[in-house]
Amino acid sequence: MKEEALKELETQLKKCRECKLCEFAKGTVGWFGCADTPIVFVGEGPGGVEDDYGCPLIGPSGQLLDKALWATKMTRDRVITTNVVKCRPKGNRTPNIAEADFCAQRWLDKELEILQPKVVVALGSVALHYLGNPDMRITRDRGKWFKTKQGFDCIATYHPAYLLRLADPHVLNHAKWEVFYDLEAARKKAEEAVPDYKFMSEEKTNLFKLFTKR
Ligand code: URA
Repeated sequence: MKEEALKELETQLKKCRECKLCEFAKGTVGWFGCADTPIVFVGEGPGGVEDDYGCPLIGPSGQLLDKALWATKMTRDRVITTNVVKCRPKGNRTPNIAEADFCAQRWLDKELEILQPKVVVALGSVALHYLGNPDMRITRDRGKWFKTKQGFDCIATYHPAYLLRLADPHVLNHAKWEVFYDLEAARKKAEEAVPDYKFMSEEKTNLFKLFTKR
């Protein structure tokens, strides 16, 4: 039932031309994963590789996320990954708060409404600002539980792109551990809510086998 509702939403999303973000994108990028999952990961918006393949978090950030998920006993096919905005902003810039609100009210909110996840993970500031509020700070507020506007339990962690930018190995190592603890806390909370759910397949999901360039 959730899967059908998501399919219908995806059909509508593909036709969306409601804001200017789509002008420089190849197309919209929706979500990927299992509709019955109790845990949803929300990134910022598609980058170049995501725009090429029409799949969220398939590029360098997604590859790092996959490693972090594997370390915390989750695979991409058993969770849902999605984004605040569905079109790649021109030149990969960060979407502003107005753009994020406009898109997410149309799409992300509806996804969450259908999915009714037990846990939402905000990846980075854009997701934290939308799911929490714009006064929240990723460095200060990551790893702390809060309720989203829709009443979902949410925890924020660093965006994988932030980790990829960290040059100092000590700072990077510390940040990676923080992400590990945040993701583990998220999985444990989801597991408490749905103890029988299988969060991990035997192999990592190879998104490049499932998606082709468009
Ligand atoms: N960064 C994101 O936040 N989402 C993507 O899909 C790709 C990069």
